[in-house]
Amino acid sequence: MRETARMPDGRVHFSLFETPMVGCMVPGHEALNAALVPRFLEMERDPVRYGDPRSWSNKFGALFESRWDLFEQPHPAIAMLREHCLALVYETAAIVNEEFWATAGVELAGLKTLVESWFHVTRNGGWHGLHKHANNSWSGVYFVRRGSAAPAYPKNGFLRLHDPRPNISMFHDMAMIPFSAGVIDIEPQDGKLIVFPSWLAHEVLPYFGDEPRITVAFNVSIHLGAR
Ligand SMILES: [Fe+2]
Repeated sequence: MRETARMPDGRVHFSLFETPMVGCMVPGHEALNAALVPRFLEMERDPVRYGDPRSWSNKFGALFESRWDLFEQPHPAIAMLREHCLALVYETAAIVNEEFWATAGVELAGLKTLVESWFHVTRNGGWHGLHKHANNSWSGVYFVRRGSAAPAYPKNGFLRLHDPRPNISMFHDMAMIPFSAGVIDIEPQDGKLIVFPSWLAHEVLPYFGDEPRITVAFNVSIHLGAR
């Protein structure tokens, strides 16, 4: 609950049920991505060894998904990316939970982190349907290569986040304009890293382009216990 306005006569306005999110450009992403791209394309060419053997119904077209242990791969650039991703999750979790952790005497160093991580190579016509990431608290996406999105298709390959309030589209009038969109679209940009709650439904809009669109995704849960 966040205070949004305090009136001269003492009335206080609040905002309830906000959705935390953070985004940044990873420092040194040019060199990082230059090392990641050939490795990911190499892994894509060996789907038996590196591809996700599970077949989900919400991945369509030319979309390669790796196994969900990417951050365990022994590769310097992958290890560096893992550090950036987890650092942003830890920062976000510490901010969101600051009051509660302080009250409970919890320190980040004493918490255990479980991580799932993978990459996508999406080619012309590929897309990823609406989904959430159960049994996790924070999810994230790192954009390695936005591809060569054909301008004829608006929101080409964008990441779409859906408003988590199920009744938000019940009624649209001039008194609820900020809540009428229902979605927020994130434009892919090489080196952009975002973190959002795992319960936030999201999808990748269809990608049309000649060059591959490459992203890394991850889920994190944080628990009491030794790291
Ligand atoms: Fe996802």
